[in-house]
Amino acid sequence: MKVLVVGSGGREHAIIKKIKENKDVEVIYALPGNGGMAKDAVCVPIQATYIDGIVEFAKGHDVDYAVVAPDDPLALGCVDALEAAGIPSFGPRANAAIIESSKVFSKDMMKKYGIPTASYDVFDDANEALEFVKTAPLPTVVKADGLALGKGVIIAITHEVAAAAVKEIMQDKKFGKSGDRIVVEEFLEGPEVSVLAFTDGKTLIPMVSSMDHKRAGDNDTGLNTGGMGTVAPNPYYTKEIADECMEKIFLPTMRAMNAEGRTFKGCLYFGLMLTKDGPKVIEYNCRFGDPETQVVLPLLESDLLTIMKAVTEERLSEVEVKFSDKHACCVIMASSGYPEKYDKGYELIIADEVEDQVYVAGAKIEDGKLLTDGGRVVGCTAVADSLEEAIEKAYKVTSKVHFENSYLRHDIGQRALKAYKG
Ligand code: AMP
Ligand code: GLY
Repeated sequence: MKVLVVGSGGREHAIIKKIKENKDVEVIYALPGNGGMAKDAVCVPIQATYIDGIVEFAKGHDVDYAVVAPDDPLALGCVDALEAAGIPSFGPRANAAIIESSKVFSKDMMKKYGIPTASYDVFDDANEALEFVKTAPLPTVVKADGLALGKGVIIAITHEVAAAAVKEIMQDKKFGKSGDRIVVEEFLEGPEVSVLAFTDGKTLIPMVSSMDHKRAGDNDTGLNTGGMGTVAPNPYYTKEIADECMEKIFLPTMRAMNAEGRTFKGCLYFGLMLTKDGPKVIEYNCRFGDPETQVVLPLLESDLLTIMKAVTEERLSEVEVKFSDKHACCVIMASSGYPEKYDKGYELIIADEVEDQVYVAGAKIEDGKLLTDGGRVVGCTAVADSLEEAIEKAYKVTSKVHFENSYLRHDIGQRALKAYKG
């Protein structure tokens, strides 16, 4: 089988490594991929958002199956286009990807179908929004409607900060058209949990839960990033809470999308907050999380490609989706300065003995050398019987990866460890 994976980050590398375990796979093309994946996939310099180019390539190379991993090509209809060209694909069509690409859509859907989430108001007029945030209860949360590279959420602790956020998004158009509308919502408190789920619109199977570490600095200080590390499972996500989520959030979401004529097939990501009033949805993503995937897939014991194809063919109920009961930890090594200004182009050296455990997010090959080429450079994952051991091993892996100016958080998994110890 010839498989194509659209995307270029650590998440895609984790997906590729897992797909490679299937013995029927002859070749995996990564579009565009990155230099650090070159041992696992054939990287082809076609951008993830160049839909016509992706379809053309897939047709020209007899691709049997495609996996579209990032949100933007999904929102642009990459799966629709591949399917129209006769190439079965994993991922939602554009009309279902809207669950991530429009917060107004997802909030209105949750309200309509009684799915627990923060209370909210929608504005398409900046003056009305500015008037509203003057008296909103604090902290208040301001969100751009559309995709904003994970930066469209501002938690305002004063009315001035809220007003500045509204101005930036709606008047200065910091995120372009994504800011034509905004959502202003209630601030929720509690532990956050990420749950990825396979769904074909008929069946929904949650994967092992995980915990992201979004802030740049130790002890959750500093700026928000794309994620500095993850652990799985998430200790706060008990069996009881999982059952409640299935009944009140996961299945209702799948059915709501069907009822709206937007059947979701692919990986649905639930960003949850476990509040004192029960679990609530913070956000939906229409794709695998990054770096959640780098801890979730290493714990998957079943064959990923088999599951993905079953999702596409709407027979998810027929396949086995089994996770190990071990623990995983992923520590991101970033370029110092990330998520703001950072230098790249340093030589990246990954010791052979840890190659299997390293997912490369930002690297390129130049003159035969692997060089850093992004904010997040690699994710180092370890799996072990206990979380403590997984953390220790993941940090050991980081000590076998070298590049100048590298930066990592030292406390990935510590909060989870404390939660286990009570
Ligand atoms: P997002 O970009 O939607 O993932 O949001 C970024 C982060 O903002 C989330 O992971 C939460 O930590 C936080 N956040 C978003 N919405 C809320 C809310 N209503 N209350 C509290 N925190 C929130
Ligand atoms: N780790 C958060 C996300 O993938 O959106």
